[in-house]
Amino acid sequence: MTQDCSSIERVQALLSDQSYVADRALSTVVFLALALNRPIFLEGEPGTGKTEIAKAIATALGRRLIRLQCYEGLDTTAAVYEWNFASQMIAIRAAEAQGDKDNTGALRKTLFGPEFLIERPLLQAMRPQPGGPPVLLIDEIDRTDEPFEAFLLEALSDYQVTIPELGPIKAAEPPIVILTSNRTREVHDALKRRCLYHWVDYPDFARELEILSARAPEASDRLSREVVAFVQRLRSEDLFKKPGVAETIDWAKCLLALDVLELSPEVIADTLGAILKYQDDIARLQGMEAKKILDEARQSLEPA
Ligand SMILES: Nc1ncnc2c1ncn2[C@@H]1O[C@H](COP(=O)(O)OP(=O)(O)O)[C@@H](O)[C@H]1O
Ligand SMILES: [Mg+2]
Repeated sequence: MTQDCSSIERVQALLSDQSYVADRALSTVVFLALALNRPIFLEGEPGTGKTEIAKAIATALGRRLIRLQCYEGLDTTAAVYEWNFASQMIAIRAAEAQGDKDNTGALRKTLFGPEFLIERPLLQAMRPQPGGPPVLLIDEIDRTDEPFEAFLLEALSDYQVTIPELGPIKAAEPPIVILTSNRTREVHDALKRRCLYHWVDYPDFARELEILSARAPEASDRLSREVVAFVQRLRSEDLFKKPGVAETIDWAKCLLALDVLELSPEVIADTLGAILKYQDDIARLQGMEAKKILDEARQSLEPA
């Protein structure tokens, strides 16, 4: 399946077919990344659609999505490859049982061959995949450490990884690479420089309403507008953790499940856990504060 990515508008439309709402700037970055074969570096608050866009691109282009979820202590055995030690041991035992003592050279060769290699995401992404080069999502890179970043920089500069026993393995066609960061720390310049960078901000009212109607179309226009206005207003509060778009969608779905037709301070108090995930933030919003924010959110809706 080949998809038409020949213009920014086409890319925007392809994403929109996947219920992903991308503004012009983000669509431009994706268009350029595809046209120039460059990795994309998306940085922004949690829940702003960074991970989701990789899924949308993969589905839209009919490519396999390969995800490397980063965490502290991530190393090459989890990211690139590992030898299947248990199977190697069994093979050695079997060879011993057959009294295959003079054939150790051949045995060594099989033991460090494809049959015993466990391929992890980075190596998989270098392999040809049905439908064309895969989408490689390197998610939450800010959670790893600097040595791993340096390693990634090298792997992404020539789309190649080296396995000492097998030699270098290079992608015939480079994968579409998307790196994301929630910016819990600064990622090194060198890695960013390799990529097309884009800061993913919270959407404005109109765009968030568009996202909500794409993701929760069952919600009435009235409820959707109230929910988005409330969340938008809530983000201007001094919270420990501001709600992302994911929370807006979750909240709307919760309200729908409760057959809520419009917001009220009581409903908000009962469902706050869908948008705020820290007790201090929830405590702040309970009582008077929620009513005040709701009134202000409603006021902002009035002229429309
Ligand atoms: N622009 C968008 N278009 C459609 N859905 C979005 C968009 N931004 C966020 N979402 C929704 O929010 C959810 C969380 O987004 P996610 O990509 O996991 O956030 P992040 O990776 O930035 O933390 C997604 O599953 C999706 O439903
Ligand atoms: Mg994410």
